[in-house]
Amino acid sequence: MAITYYKRLRMELDLDEPIGPIALPDPFTWIAWDESLLALHADVKYRSFRGEIDAYVFPCLGDRYGCQRLMREIRRKPGFLPGATWLIAGPDGCVGTVQGVLDHGPIGAIQNLGVVPEHRGKGLGRALARGALAGFQGAGLRRAYLEVTAENRSALMLYRSLGFRKARTLYKAVDG
Ligand SMILES: CC(C)(COP(=O)(O)OP(=O)(O)OC[C@H]1O[C@@H](n2cnc3c(N)ncnc32)[C@H](O)[C@@H]1OP(=O)(O)O)[C@@H](O)C(=O)NCCC(=O)NCCS
Repeated sequence: MAITYYKRLRMELDLDEPIGPIALPDPFTWIAWDESLLALHADVKYRSFRGEIDAYVFPCLGDRYGCQRLMREIRRKPGFLPGATWLIAGPDGCVGTVQGVLDHGPIGAIQNLGVVPEHRGKGLGRALARGALAGFQGAGLRRAYLEVTAENRSALMLYRSLGFRKARTLYKAVDG
């Protein structure tokens, strides 16, 4: 079976400036982490990532059960940060998700930021990323990182505009 290598960038950011309250455009609202929301995070993750480049790089992201498994794994990590984990709700349900994890460093890791296709381009992705960063600051962290597939232009532009800069290039091998 052919192997495809996807170029991924590790990007990092110093958390120098305090992040204040993050306003959402009307009619969207924040939903803070609660244990009862695990399946909802998984559902929004699935609806945000299916058919996108990262669902090829990480096939679990393009699969409803894969997203549930992934959410359970993230929740079980010793460094899981409830304060950096958010949903955004709209009038018809949840439309965006992000999780934050404390990693060795110490450094905050942004995981699986996703906004469903119908609600992109409204500033929700930026708000979710800043929500995770504010959660890292609340946990006393001074630095954040994430990994992004180099072809994922919209995500790359978002992270660059927040001040993230490339720290390292990685290659992810995918079968088939
Ligand atoms: C990446 C993603 C989260 C962006 O969410 P979004 O809500 O559309 O983003 P925002 O509206 O907050 O846009 C913020 C910035 O991102 C960049 N951006 C977003 N969409 C873009 C696009 N289609 N082309 C270029 N830049 C784009 C811009 O810099 C934008 O700032 P601007 O509006 O001031 O120009 C969303 O496209 C998504 O969920 N993609 C699928 C899942 C995914 O790949 N997640 C990232 C994993 S690393």
